[in-house]
Amino acid sequence: MKPNILAPSILAADCAILKEQIRQIEEGGAKYVHIDVMDGVFVPSLSFGIPIVKSLRKITDLTLDVHLMIIHPAKYIKPFAEAGADSITFHYESEDDTEEVIDLIKNAGCKVGLSIKPDTPVEDIYKYLDKIDMLLVMTVQPGFGGQEYIPESTMRIAQARQYIDSHGLNCDIEVDGGIHDHIARTVIEVGANVIVAGSAIFGGDAKANCEKYVRVLDSTVKGEVL
Ligand code: DX5
Ligand code: ZN
Repeated sequence: MKPNILAPSILAADCAILKEQIRQIEEGGAKYVHIDVMDGVFVPSLSFGIPIVKSLRKITDLTLDVHLMIIHPAKYIKPFAEAGADSITFHYESEDDTEEVIDLIKNAGCKVGLSIKPDTPVEDIYKYLDKIDMLLVMTVQPGFGGQEYIPESTMRIAQARQYIDSHGLNCDIEVDGGIHDHIARTVIEVGANVIVAGSAIFGGDAKANCEKYVRVLDSTVKGEVL
């Protein structure tokens, strides 16, 4: 069985001491750094871009997990890959052709992630699940950190996991938004294995918070689905 992975979201980090924050999550047992990219169009807010990926690449070997919340991902795949992204996730609801963006990410040598917003039916992306490495099921409306987990997400994760497993596919399920440690347990039990957390990690002692999550992640296994 795949190990569960913690992916702290630096949207909630203190960028004035970002290097230090990265060290803290490394020491706390995180394996990914989740980098939220927002364009002010796909979501109302603006956040990080290519330069931060380039800078992070110089200071860490953690997997750089880029989450593009942008309306036109296609033209930015190559620059993010060249900057050092390991994994690039884009939104099914963006305006570019899904298959084309999947191919661009693959050809750029990165792991392919596809994300769905909370209102998008899970069935809509079934046909892409054999072409991607990771499905990101948003558990809040994308755009801001610190929101409450949407409870209906649990069934959506279970539905995706059941499809993936019953079709013999090898696809991670990442969850993002409002994943506090007790919710981490729930989402893992229904089949998520990459856990994003922002404010719950960087809202206090990042190392200690990562350790707390890692304990939960290591002690929770996927249960019977549905
Ligand atoms: C929201 C972002 C998330 C966000 C999660 O649109 O995609 O990655 O940073 O933050 P928390 O864990 O605080 O909900
Ligand atoms: Zn995110």
